[in-house]
Amino acid sequence: MAILVTGGMGYIGSHTCVELLNAGYEVVIVDNLSNSKIEVLQNIQDITGKGFKFYKINMLEKDSLERVFHENEIDAVIHFAGLKSVEESVLHPLLYYKNNLMSTITLCELMQKYQIKNLVFSSSATVYGIPEKVPISEESQLQAKSPYGRTKLMIEEILEDVHQADQQWSISILRYFNPIGAHESGKIGEDPLGRPNNLMPTITKVAARKYNILHVFGNNYPTIDGTCIRDYIHVTDIANGHIKALKKNKNSSGIHTYNLGTGKGYSVLEIISSFEKVTGVHIPYQIIAPRSGDVAVCYANPTKAEKELGWKARKEIDEMCMDSWRWEVNKMNDDLNKVNV
Ligand code: WQD
Repeated sequence: MAILVTGGMGYIGSHTCVELLNAGYEVVIVDNLSNSKIEVLQNIQDITGKGFKFYKINMLEKDSLERVFHENEIDAVIHFAGLKSVEESVLHPLLYYKNNLMSTITLCELMQKYQIKNLVFSSSATVYGIPEKVPISEESQLQAKSPYGRTKLMIEEILEDVHQADQQWSISILRYFNPIGAHESGKIGEDPLGRPNNLMPTITKVAARKYNILHVFGNNYPTIDGTCIRDYIHVTDIANGHIKALKKNKNSSGIHTYNLGTGKGYSVLEIISSFEKVTGVHIPYQIIAPRSGDVAVCYANPTKAEKELGWKARKEIDEMCMDSWRWEVNKMNDDLNKVNV
């Protein structure tokens, strides 16, 4: 019996596939490669020494997606596939609503048809919007502030209704805080197409001297050093949270939501100094105007996942910085090798 991983070639998806394969699961990946590269396939195989199936499919094409269900014995689904840029979603809301909502509805229709009712859904702390208080628990007020965040919230509500209509479904909704870092091998990591929006991939490109300077968005927030505080969590810890959720779903039906965070917050300047400390690479930066939509402080109360999933983030900020840098260095070396061939 296999685990179907939609978006399994992406940043969190690929790391989850590595952990699934290492844990002995059979894996089937569906991905349209709109925000990932085919090289990730070989990298997952190199890391795990395991084989798995891959289908290049647009999940909006129901007949293509149904072929995956027809050709494989699927036991459960982990659903990562979706567009995920806050900035892009503001410019192209209809693209986000159509893609993220319709792909999920198509997936659930096929799961229903093939009687597969174990689903882990990739949600985001972005559904909390501007938190009324921190640390943020799963019961905190939900107030997504972007079309991207609203697609995550709407999908959570769709899944609540799917479960309400058929309570044999076992659904875990995982709300990630700020995933950073890369697999310790340096063979997979965050690889955004085009200019990254997020902090860590921008830091590693400044460290690689691909960008001259890091722009820090504002330093007048009510925090320890005026820069925003976030709950940065290692992507491998996030990946292992999915395995714990799969196991919980297998043992009980119902729909449950969990924060995947460390419960600790770090400011932008603290991240910069951690990165410089562990890598020895200087990160020149310039404070500029705040980025609209940024919240001052956001970090998780992760105790529900600890109690109910038996999951806890293990990796510390220094390891996240080191792993991010190793991945960037390996990418640079690969690019150089391609040029020298
Ligand atoms: C972190 C901090 C920035 C870049 C985003 C998405 C969210 C989720 C996680 C998907 C902020 C500052 C950043 C830079 C900076 N993704 N920063 N200079 O905004 O907390 O969350 O990623 O679910 O949906 O919104 O993460 O990494 O963009 O920013 O100063 O060049 O770093 O202002 O304070 P964010 P981020």
